[in-house]
Amino acid sequence: MNKIKRIAVICSGGDSQGMNTCIKTIVNVCTVHNIEVYAFNRGYQGLIENDIIKLNNEMVENIGHLGGCFIKVARSKEFLEQEGKQKAFNNIYKNEIDGVILIGGNGSFHGALEFVKAGIPIIGIPGTIDNDLYYTDRTLGFDTAVNNAVKAIDNIKQTMLANSRGIVIRVMGRDCGAIALNVAVACNAHALSVKEVPKTIDQIIDDLKVCMNNGVESPLVILNDYIEYSVEDVQKAMEKNLRIETRGSTLGYIQRGGSPSVEDRLLATQFGLTAVELLINGKTDLAVGVRNRNIISISLMQALQIKEEFDYSLYNQLRDLHGLKKDNNNY
Ligand code: F6P
Repeated sequence: MNKIKRIAVICSGGDSQGMNTCIKTIVNVCTVHNIEVYAFNRGYQGLIENDIIKLNNEMVENIGHLGGCFIKVARSKEFLEQEGKQKAFNNIYKNEIDGVILIGGNGSFHGALEFVKAGIPIIGIPGTIDNDLYYTDRTLGFDTAVNNAVKAIDNIKQTMLANSRGIVIRVMGRDCGAIALNVAVACNAHALSVKEVPKTIDQIIDDLKVCMNNGVESPLVILNDYIEYSVEDVQKAMEKNLRIETRGSTLGYIQRGGSPSVEDRLLATQFGLTAVELLINGKTDLAVGVRNRNIISISLMQALQIKEEFDYSLYNQLRDLHGLKKDNNNY
């Protein structure tokens, strides 16, 4: 087994809380093992453009508790083209990089498979607020994003309750309802519409009627990113059909910024350490993750093949809480 002398870190896709903690961990542990760490800024795009920097402990000392991404992220269209990939891999060879650690989401993991095909050692770390890589219980940033959304909704609820108003909130997550579901349970929402269990506006109104008959004054509705109707559409329907003044809010990037939670920091540290150890042990083509609190690694292809896992049991518990009937007995 050849000794690893130089690795590169790449963060790709949307940034997520915990990326900085993970970068810091990688630099710290590589320093201990006398391995040089480089970063390609701006994901695969920076790799194509050879936008490279050398990292050291001093540079990363004060980033572990910060949101955002110290080495920047990007979504690269050029990397999807053969020419772009070739430029990217040439820069790996030119800089004599022995192994790559990629931190990113679903799309970025597909990109990592290209490294495997090219024979470049690569380890993937799941970093996205969406929690849409299903081989792992958690992706970096998910816990913080949920906490950020919950804090924001707690504030919004106070003013809405004071005015006896209904509330409609849209949260992030792309086509994955994990953020919306966890936020809905944590905030005791009365109706939820996600891609996995989409509701028509009429169905939302029916659910809210049940809750209001049970004494709820300010019903709360949570929608996720990819629901096709708008916050305003639901707001108007509530005002018309429930005769309740209603306000709405799309939370947006407040969910993706801010300091990583303790859970994200712990995972980022464990993922970073594991990824470096795997490269040192000559391993490649692996995705690091967490299952039942154990750190695991499985092949990148396998990781991507594990299908969507929506937590229907939690979803049904939310409905039970408000005495709403089950949507579908198969759940
Ligand atoms: O994938 C992470 C995410 O924050 C999604 O939840 C959201 O839909 C999307 O990125 C927003 O992307 P952008 O930063 O390109 O606006």
